[in-house]
Amino acid sequence: MTLPITSIGLLDPDQVKSVIGAAVLAPSTHNTQPWRFRCTTAGLELHADPDRALPVADTDRRELLLSCGAALFNLRTAIQALGTHPATTLFPRRDDPTLLAVVRPFAARRPDPRLVELADAIPRRHTNRTPFETAAIPPSVVAELRHAAEVEQAWLPRLDTKQLEGLRELVHQAHHAQVAEPAFLAEWLHWTRRGSDSRDGVPEYAAGAMPSNNGGWVLRDFGSRRRDRTDHSEPLVVVIGSFDDTPLDRLRAGQAMQRVLLTATAAGFDASFISQPVEVPPVRAELRRLLGGGLWPQIVLRLGRGAPVPWTPRRSLDDVLLEPAALSA
Ligand SMILES: Cc1cc2nc3c(=O)[nH]c(=O)nc-3n(C[C@H](O)[C@H](O)[C@H](O)COP(=O)(O)O)c2cc1C
Repeated sequence: MTLPITSIGLLDPDQVKSVIGAAVLAPSTHNTQPWRFRCTTAGLELHADPDRALPVADTDRRELLLSCGAALFNLRTAIQALGTHPATTLFPRRDDPTLLAVVRPFAARRPDPRLVELADAIPRRHTNRTPFETAAIPPSVVAELRHAAEVEQAWLPRLDTKQLEGLRELVHQAHHAQVAEPAFLAEWLHWTRRGSDSRDGVPEYAAGAMPSNNGGWVLRDFGSRRRDRTDHSEPLVVVIGSFDDTPLDRLRAGQAMQRVLLTATAAGFDASFISQPVEVPPVRAELRRLLGGGLWPQIVLRLGRGAPVPWTPRRSLDDVLLEPAALSA
């Protein structure tokens, strides 16, 4: 039976609203926000929203699962920061592949200070597409990022100079293949020209001052007219990989991606995505070979310190709840 937003387990109604509010701050491809939530007696359900899929950029809905995995990590972390254990079951029903997870906040736990730090970082994390300072990220922070991926059962391999060169070339290849495809551009325009009062899609102001040359890495241009003319290099580019490529691995990789992003935010660093090479299947296969063939590349991130950026909009809780009437109860 579906309940209105009253208590779920140990969470009171305001806490339930606040943890869903934290979940929806997750990043998502083109800010599609492809998730929905339902409050039931069994716990909080996370559903994929197939109406918000990207049939061209994300043909097999892999990135949709990454985005939902990021929302799930926020949900779990926000619940943990409240001193409650989020017992989580992934894909709980075989007959319903859009039901991605059920989270049951039922047992009291003393909050882990590290997770409280990550929960605090949730509203401070924004995709930062501005040029990054060239200073290297300290090895201790890189080790934390690697650990963050591993805790969530994914992998952030160390890339040598040759692999980085190969990756940069693959980003070029994939980027040019995508922008030459009218269907990709049409989908892109649909999600990036939505008007100032839209609560989804990527607004032009989110582009920041794009680097005109950042060591040869091609970034997506979200329509910014400003260009930073100085030469930049990227302090750190990483790939997050999984050991297999099933829906379960992709959902886990999304949680790992968000843990990595929040770990970077908590350490004072910014990040943005370079997802072209994982969106074009033959280029993704090439990237897998470049990484040694053992890992499925799921996402590429650039990390460093950029200029402050504004936040992108989100849909209201009414829009993401499967029973919107429940909110006013
Ligand atoms: C799987 C995935 C792929 C993404 N790919 C790109 C990308 O290639 N380029 C980019 O600038 N942003 C990319 N983004 C960032 C989204 O555009 C961003 O998360 C969204 O607009 C919401 O903004 P926020 O992250 O600042 O909250 C990606 C996000 C996700 C989750």
